[in-house]
Amino acid sequence: MYSNDHLKNKNKIIIIDFGSQVTKLIARRVRDLRVYCEIINLNELQKIENFKNIKGIILSGGPSTVTQKIYPKISKKIFEKNIPVLGICYGLQLIAKVFGGKIKKSQKKREFGEAILLEKSKSILLKNFFTNKKAKVWMSHQDAIYKIPKNFKNIASTDNSKYTAIQNKNKRIYGIQFHPEVTHTEKGFKIIKNFVSDICKIKKNWVIGIEKKRIIHDLKKKIKKDKVICALSGGVDSSVVALLVNKAIKKNLRCIMVDTGLLRKNEFKKSYNLFKYKYKLNIKLINSQTIFYKKLKNVTDPEKKRKIIGNLFIKIFENEAKKFKNVKYLAQGTLYPDIIESRSATGSNTSKIKSHHNVGGLPKKMKLKLIEPLNELFKDEVRILGKSLGLDNSILKKHPFPGPGLAIRIIGKITEKKIKILQNADDIFIDSLIKNKLYDKIWQAYAALLPVKTVGVMGDTRTFEYTCLLRAVTSEDGMTAAKYNFNNEFLSKVSNKIINGVSGINRVVYDITSKPPSTIELE
Ligand code: XMP
Repeated sequence: MYSNDHLKNKNKIIIIDFGSQVTKLIARRVRDLRVYCEIINLNELQKIENFKNIKGIILSGGPSTVTQKIYPKISKKIFEKNIPVLGICYGLQLIAKVFGGKIKKSQKKREFGEAILLEKSKSILLKNFFTNKKAKVWMSHQDAIYKIPKNFKNIASTDNSKYTAIQNKNKRIYGIQFHPEVTHTEKGFKIIKNFVSDICKIKKNWVIGIEKKRIIHDLKKKIKKDKVICALSGGVDSSVVALLVNKAIKKNLRCIMVDTGLLRKNEFKKSYNLFKYKYKLNIKLINSQTIFYKKLKNVTDPEKKRKIIGNLFIKIFENEAKKFKNVKYLAQGTLYPDIIESRSATGSNTSKIKSHHNVGGLPKKMKLKLIEPLNELFKDEVRILGKSLGLDNSILKKHPFPGPGLAIRIIGKITEKKIKILQNADDIFIDSLIKNKLYDKIWQAYAALLPVKTVGVMGDTRTFEYTCLLRAVTSEDGMTAAKYNFNNEFLSKVSNKIINGVSGINRVVYDITSKPPSTIELE
């Protein structure tokens, strides 16, 4: 594993994760303030010996309830270290419990969704947050405090719960029932900023530029004259990894590009040319379309498709890698969110690295040591890093693309003909987005091919062809997403272009569902 030792002495905020779906967003907000932070679980908290560099602690939300006998607890000692603490949702209830407050399951109304918060008393934490003493906030809880702990003051309420925000100013302990980290809480970032800047008073000096030099320097030191292989997909993460490692060790990096035949139209060729000729990477290209199509023949189950693709990819990669002599390391684009997701929030020791979507299982089987230079970074930070490495915009700004590729965008059986149809339709859609300057406003967009054939008429001829579904969403991190609002004229034009330009499709529909309840991909 790539060494994190350099971070031990860095001033930081720690976020103790109690399992909320949005804990990662807290870290994102803190890092947006150019302050370094780490998400840790209760096990890791226990192992911290020296709190000197920890300038603030945030207790996240989570699904547990302090009203039951067993719940994830935190020692009162944490509050005695003279470090500011902010509890969010479950974190607030935990603070109330530790300090002798009373919490119960709310009988009247569960609060899920938007609520209006009313200011009760001035507080640094809520500075610049209210407009006329009111603010829209996002709630997601069932428990409520009904007796405030001693020495705490009520600073804000909603109609349903009195103690929605509390503080002990002397001890610098704060708790809020709502989620400031989600965008539904208007100006929620102000609360994080007030806590980090005005209460914790930590210096804002987390700059990705310094990280680049440090990462390259560490890679050189670690790898020395050894050889490294890397599966290059042409996505942002693996591209940034390849450029970083290349900067550190030059020709001793061997990149392998496996063409699965499941990428967008011409995409593989474009990426290959870019890395080979612009960045002069040492790349081996493997044409594997035929075998991928063969193995996927007649498979309809989405999970089966994913497994077949994942396993085949590993097999091909392994075979190729064996041909390189004396390889010691595998470089991989694991990101910080992958690391967080891979361990359990409440600290059981069952943590394992989540099998990476694209190259899962590689390291274990191949007995190679892992190099994960991005494992402390969020996607946005990787993009900034990529930009500073001179990575081409066509890759930097590329929408996310799933490992199994078009196979999970052709619902049902996959055939070579269907892949061609979909590639052409998708190309028209994406090209229209770029030409109309919409591509960068959208988080992810794609076309999918539905296994539904319907009747149409073209000229004087009756047609019976496939339906193409278009999807375009806005999102921050893929965890939630909303449909992009195109104007009708744009959609009509794209639909016409697809139907006129792609034989095999005679109907186009636009997916208007959000995530949740739907997911971004269809399979
Ligand atoms: P869903 O469909 O779960 O997707 O809402 C969320 C984000 O993850 C991407 N995705 C994948 N990425 N391998 C990947 O590398 C996969 O198997 C995979 N499945 C979904 C999806 O495109 C979206 O950005």
